[in-house]
Amino acid sequence: MIKDLWYKNAVVYCLSVGTYMDANGDGVGDFSGLMRRLDYINGLGVSAIWLMPFQASPGRDNGYDISDYYSVNPAYGTLGDFVEFTHAAKQRGIRVLIDLVVNHTSNEHAWFKEARRDPKSKYRDWYVWSKKKPANADKGMVFPGVQKSTWTHDPVAKEYYFHRFYDFQPDLNTSNPEVQAEILRIMGFWIQLGVSGFRMDAVPFVISTKGAEVNKPREQYGMLRDFREFLQWRVGDSMILAEANVLPNTDMQYFGDDGDRMHMMFNFQVNQNLFYALAAADTKPLVKAMEKTKPRPPSGQWGMFLRNHDELDLGRLTEKQRKKVFAAFGPNKEDQLYDRGIRRRLAPMLGGDRRRIELAYSLMFTLPGTPVLRYGDELGMGDDLSLPERECCRTPMQWSTEPHGGFTKSDKPVMPVIDRGPYGYEHVNAAFQRRDPNSMLNWIERIIRMRKEVPEVGWGDFEVIKAGNDAVLALRYDWRNNSVLFLHNFAGEPIEVEFKTGLGDERDDKLVDLLGDAHSNAQTNGKHCVCLEAYGYRWYRVGGLDYLLNRSDV
Ligand code: NOJ
Repeated sequence: MIKDLWYKNAVVYCLSVGTYMDANGDGVGDFSGLMRRLDYINGLGVSAIWLMPFQASPGRDNGYDISDYYSVNPAYGTLGDFVEFTHAAKQRGIRVLIDLVVNHTSNEHAWFKEARRDPKSKYRDWYVWSKKKPANADKGMVFPGVQKSTWTHDPVAKEYYFHRFYDFQPDLNTSNPEVQAEILRIMGFWIQLGVSGFRMDAVPFVISTKGAEVNKPREQYGMLRDFREFLQWRVGDSMILAEANVLPNTDMQYFGDDGDRMHMMFNFQVNQNLFYALAAADTKPLVKAMEKTKPRPPSGQWGMFLRNHDELDLGRLTEKQRKKVFAAFGPNKEDQLYDRGIRRRLAPMLGGDRRRIELAYSLMFTLPGTPVLRYGDELGMGDDLSLPERECCRTPMQWSTEPHGGFTKSDKPVMPVIDRGPYGYEHVNAAFQRRDPNSMLNWIERIIRMRKEVPEVGWGDFEVIKAGNDAVLALRYDWRNNSVLFLHNFAGEPIEVEFKTGLGDERDDKLVDLLGDAHSNAQTNGKHCVCLEAYGYRWYRVGGLDYLLNRSDV
């Protein structure tokens, strides 16, 4: 497989323009502000930025309710600013991915307005209608508690319309060929403006059959191939990263057996089991999740993440496992959401314990896939639980000790900046951390640099190695005659492990420590013996450091 598939070994940084940096002082982050911070992002060493939705929107779901796909929200700037931004990112070698939210539109989109008003309009069939309230209207809500139904009566159309998410997000009738053509047109538009691909929102729902008479929705996987094919004809190295929280036995349907559907998928299975492992110091279910999600086409890749802008969904864990994670990381009602998730940022979930935070990130960077980091996590930012639902972990970036953390000069920031407690901007900000060699920020920068030096993780095959203790995960990756090995101790006490690398050749004898100088030589029985500190981790290159000499670079 040629190395041109850049996303196989990339580091992605996700941010929302509105809460990143406000340059014009109106309280809302904008593209000009983001441009000023590009060198900061570049300094982190990331390969791509994923922008959350920034198109025109009434903003009732953090921009995931778009009212014009071919625009930039005027509060963030203009299309001109957007192009300047993608150009400036390109100059720094950073690619730009954007959200593609086409399962639904805002109810303020002109298509929906037209569809409601005029039953004869072509847009009527762009949405999903029913004259009577469907029997399953109270089922399948994504936001239980806040969302009462999936079908709502529209007084103008005098019919019910389908909405998988909030009632202000009517679902597009994605089976309609005209809608499908429009989705391609949207992709073509943004590709032309310089993006390298899309994080596709709610993919299982996009491809699902929809309608009052649909009792058992069916996924139309062929659509995924159409999206990919179109995109790659337009720009060969562009890609789609699918948000699809599905069971492992359908993963290959999303990737395509021949690797002809989605290029990447977020690995929700590993994400949830990783949090269980962190909570219970038990890696068995995590290993199972990794084995189950091992199959993927050679060109396919997993997106590895810890937290994102939504709640930490624990819906795929067993009742017992979920309870353990809640008890460890979100014991109070106010920490939890929709009975299945935790709405906190990573640092406060882990009690601000630097050892555990490093362990979690070290895992994110070394589990099989491409790491996806969320803005502010590189500083260990916290959350504001006084904000409703998922808003609590979407507060503005904390740049300095200036008012509102240097995010805006306005006295009315679009979201309150965290200004009290241990995570307040006076303690947690980029300016301080830039100067402190031991800061989280500088640690993240170093770990990203090292991650780029171990392409085996992005490209290679992994093997779980027996280390004799379920609290320790030992992983080896092999690629092009090179091997790296990682140890992670999930327990709060030191653990000594004895293990064989499993390679079975002369390289076994030496493990070169990539983050420190604790190299390891095999004992006479061929085993390595390593003592890991509480929550300790090690990155090793197996055999020695001369790998560059014998690895083909194509
Ligand atoms: C998934 C997004 O991550 C979430 O934030 C959003 O509310 C829903 N899709 C609906 O677009």
